[in-house]
Amino acid sequence: MARLTTLILAGGKGKRMKSDLVKVLHPIMGKSMLSYPVEASLEGLGSPKTIVVVGHQAKRIQDAFSDNRLTFVHQKPQLGSGHAVLCAEEAFRGYDGTILILCGDVPLVKTKTLKELVAFHRRLRATLTVATTRLTDPSGYGRVIRREGDDIEKIVEDEDASSQVSKIEEVNTGLYCVEASFLFPALKQVRSNNRQGEYYLTDIVEIGRKENRKVVAFHVSDADQFLGINTRVDLARAHEVVRDRYLRKWMLDGVTIIDPNTTYIEAGVIMGKDTVVYANCVIQGETAIGSHCSIGPNCLIRDSKIGDGVTVRAFSVIEESGIARGALIGPFSRLRPQSQISEDAKVGNFVEIKKSLIGKGSKANHLAYIGDATLGEKVNIGAGTIFCNYDGIEKHPTIVGKGVFVGSNAELVAPLRIGNDAVVGAGSTITRDVPDKSLAVSRAKQKNIEGWGEKRIKKKPLRRDD
Ligand code: UD1
Ligand code: CA
Repeated sequence: MARLTTLILAGGKGKRMKSDLVKVLHPIMGKSMLSYPVEASLEGLGSPKTIVVVGHQAKRIQDAFSDNRLTFVHQKPQLGSGHAVLCAEEAFRGYDGTILILCGDVPLVKTKTLKELVAFHRRLRATLTVATTRLTDPSGYGRVIRREGDDIEKIVEDEDASSQVSKIEEVNTGLYCVEASFLFPALKQVRSNNRQGEYYLTDIVEIGRKENRKVVAFHVSDADQFLGINTRVDLARAHEVVRDRYLRKWMLDGVTIIDPNTTYIEAGVIMGKDTVVYANCVIQGETAIGSHCSIGPNCLIRDSKIGDGVTVRAFSVIEESGIARGALIGPFSRLRPQSQISEDAKVGNFVEIKKSLIGKGSKANHLAYIGDATLGEKVNIGAGTIFCNYDGIEKHPTIVGKGVFVGSNAELVAPLRIGNDAVVGAGSTITRDVPDKSLAVSRAKQKNIEGWGEKRIKKKPLRRDD
């Protein structure tokens, strides 16, 4: 779009959030609130330049955004939304096109709507266009006082509204399209004689009207897009809206979401078709899940790569790990960072794996800890096996060759190498390397003492009554 620059307001503290973190950095579904309007501008509208007004925790905000198409403008002190825009005057020097004003705390607006707003503004040759919507509970928002047609008279902030004005359901969404040539001179006329003692951006409506300029409302009926986030109650609602949008997208792309109400899948996640996600799953970060997978219920997956046809059964936790095609995980498995599970491997209940490679077709079906290990193909790890990787000071590796069978309840004390096709006897504590194809056993030899049980009963008869 020609001659359009976006200005995003993010200077306020967000007092009503009652947080140590500036409001616009609070995350919504894994991305900061501010990244939504920033992406809408840079990606959605393809604006070559986007100006962001920062004030409270300015450095923290700037550090969170590295795109060099963003220009940050500082507002100090923060004297209201009108003052925030005026702080950007210098950044707009010599610019006489249209400015699209977005708010960092109104993140859910769709790019399509923004394009329509700009098109509407241009079609009507307006000086100022205010995006409005209708809310059954308009409290907290500025109310729109209409004239005939699309024209508007003024915006009255909630705190300054009379009981009559409070009843108006059409509200200011906080998004505007405005001509730069009008905006900055108008802002210089804005005064702070209102209940909040702030310089309201909304006062430019009345100023435009007095100057006989074309000031219009662009009404959008989908109010969810304009949710202004002021409190954590609003934040929870925003999560719900974004979550539903993402889930809808995946469902339309061929993923079955059994219970959308309890499923939380963040923005960066990728999923293949015919994958089924059961209730109560949380899938976060940079996670990619292939097609024909079955996940959950009640699983947490973060920053992991999962191949096609993988089954992750109930209550499994997978973080920063990779699982190859056809593997079976869970129920109740835990994969800690840097675990790689190869094709067709099985990790069963109460098995914890950390920084280890589990070879193709290998199995650890029950109750085991595998840490800092490399397992070849077709290894079997018996129930209760512990890889003793830590001596209290350092971590040590264990290498298990292909085809190895480790009996139940073994302790493998690292550093250790177990050769191909070797067997470790159940209940052994292995402290030395095991050559290929050998059996390693290290447990006390069993003694059977005949008649011992009978003697015991004679000494102290068993109570047969229970
Ligand atoms: C604002 C509008 C209100 C509208 C609502 C929509 C004004 C006066 N009111 O109210 O009509 O219905 O948004 O959500 O604009 N900001 C700064 N510096 C400041 C103050 C605010 O950059 O000194 C930024 C905030 O970070 C925020 C935006 O401006 O992104 C709006 O400020 P906020 O205080 O949240 O205004 P609301 O009361 O929500
Ligand atoms: Ca707000």
